[in-house]
Amino acid sequence: MLRDLQLRNFRCFPAIAAEFSSGFNFIVGANGQGKTTLLEAACVLLRLQSQRAATMAPALRAGEKSFVVSGHIEEHLLQFYYSTLRRKVALDGVEQRDLADYLAFLRVVSFANNDLDLIRGAAETRRRFLDFIGSQVDVRYRPALRVYERALRARNALLKSPHPRPRELTAYTEPLVKAGRSLGEMRAALVRRLRPAAEASHHAISGNESLALDYVPGNEEDFAAHLERAQAEDARLRLTTVGPHRDDLCLFVREMSAAQFASEGQQRTAALALKLAQARLLAEEAEGPPLLLIDDIFGELDASRRNALLAALPNESQKLITATSLDWRESAWDGPVLELAGGEIRPRG
Ligand SMILES: Nc1ncnc2c1ncn2[C@@H]1O[C@H](COP(=O)(O)OP(=O)(O)O)[C@@H](O)[C@H]1O
Ligand SMILES: [Mg+2]
Repeated sequence: MLRDLQLRNFRCFPAIAAEFSSGFNFIVGANGQGKTTLLEAACVLLRLQSQRAATMAPALRAGEKSFVVSGHIEEHLLQFYYSTLRRKVALDGVEQRDLADYLAFLRVVSFANNDLDLIRGAAETRRRFLDFIGSQVDVRYRPALRVYERALRARNALLKSPHPRPRELTAYTEPLVKAGRSLGEMRAALVRRLRPAAEASHHAISGNESLALDYVPGNEEDFAAHLERAQAEDARLRLTTVGPHRDDLCLFVREMSAAQFASEGQQRTAALALKLAQARLLAEEAEGPPLLLIDDIFGELDASRRNALLAALPNESQKLITATSLDWRESAWDGPVLELAGGEIRPRG
């Protein structure tokens, strides 16, 4: 479990530190006090990426050049230093080059209001969702994604140049195809694992509606052949038109497209079910249950769904839950309450 967390020059906080317990932890504060920021810092520390932004730059406190986030997982000290020039990851005071050991410490699932984008948003949101889980369950995922993205960027840059030479293009084909294939296989396997968990989670919070997931690859089975066939089209559009960067995850509520036909309430439920499925999937892993970051979603849910959600969370998981108030809380969800105001955090009472 995450015992404590320290932030320096991270978004609104010049400096703040908090301690956590196992099980439920409630963080209460008015709008703009930094609740989301605190959870973001936990995610940045543990996963080296933000759940709210694609890059770290926006997390840098305005006017500052670097931030530091640190914390303890049991007796181990994790530290992440970020500046526009450099980033540094340290475990027990030792800088880490290979991040595998560091990233193996604790996995994270984050629940937030914008989870609705998983249903309504662009395919990119769903790919990021898969990537976030994939990087946590398979050590090969992150490297494959990196290689693929690099090859794709280079190939697209070449396609945009005035006179791309076919021979130069083929130089990028091999890494693109190799990494793309393994990425596709890992994503397909991930969706196969997510499916039963998502169905069960959806059932638990919606009563009796069905939820189905479908992985839709952005390329045909033979990626290399597809890429070759797409060459003329790629040259005309000056970008790579097939591949895992075009993958999608399609969702169906009662066998109808969730994005097109589900009601707002059904969409929220489907988004929650996806996140719960992620939590359950990670909880099955040998490394132990994930940390759950649950950001201010209770205002959006009616009382029965709030309780159904809390009841459906993996029992063994540590939970950091933010809210503007706790008047809805039932006695079953017991845990320390931390009050966040004026840049300071204090245990209530
Ligand atoms: N890079 C930044 N530098 C300074 N302040 C920031 C930065 N990013 C966000 N903030 C401020 O942090 C405050 C807290 O935001 P947030 O964590 O979203 O609050 P909450 O979730 O409690 O509503 C906001 O007032 C926002 O303006
Ligand atoms: Mg917030």
